[in-house]
Amino acid sequence: MKENIRVMISEEDVDRRIAEMAAAISRDYEGGSVHLICILKGSVFFTCELAKRITIPVTLDFMSVSSYGAGTKSSGVVRLVKDLDEPLEGKDVIVIEDIIDSGRTLSYLLENLGNRHPKSLRLCTLLDKPERRVTDVKVDYTGFEIPDEFVVGYGLDYDQQYRNLPYIGVVTLAEDHEE
Ligand code: IMP
Ligand code: MG
Repeated sequence: MKENIRVMISEEDVDRRIAEMAAAISRDYEGGSVHLICILKGSVFFTCELAKRITIPVTLDFMSVSSYGAGTKSSGVVRLVKDLDEPLEGKDVIVIEDIIDSGRTLSYLLENLGNRHPKSLRLCTLLDKPERRVTDVKVDYTGFEIPDEFVVGYGLDYDQQYRNLPYIGVVTLAEDHEE
């Protein structure tokens, strides 16, 4: 079955919003620095674009988690695939996510990272699907709130495809058009 992609948020709009988020972070931490934690793989594109536009000193680290379960739903059981390289103690940490859906991955991450005694811990996400939330998480910086549709691009994948699209798109299966 062939998928089609419909543009939900254009490249221009995503770029403009990321610049605004970077400005907000630079302002909020003025005089300090931020340690960004990129959650692989989905957050790579967003983390790079955001970090490039932050005007205070930035350090980066990477973490990879995987949610047990297949398809487009996360099961709630999270496995740590790649841990951070550096400790968080005393750092102003911001977790960078591509999208918050059920909130399960994030609640696991925030508890895990909070136990490492950062000076502060905040959460920044490019996309949020608030309708889908089952676990309450406090998000400090949100790019866009979107409806409950499966999206790709800007790091987000459908079966590992489409991560490199420079915009946010919605996947529709050819079959969907017959509804
Ligand atoms: P959560 O634990 O349910 O919040 O799941 C978050 C993770 O599910 C994200 O980091 C993505 O990897 C994946 N995900 C959720 N919604 C989408 C989507 O619309 N497109 C692509 N991946 C998604
Ligand atoms: Mg992800």
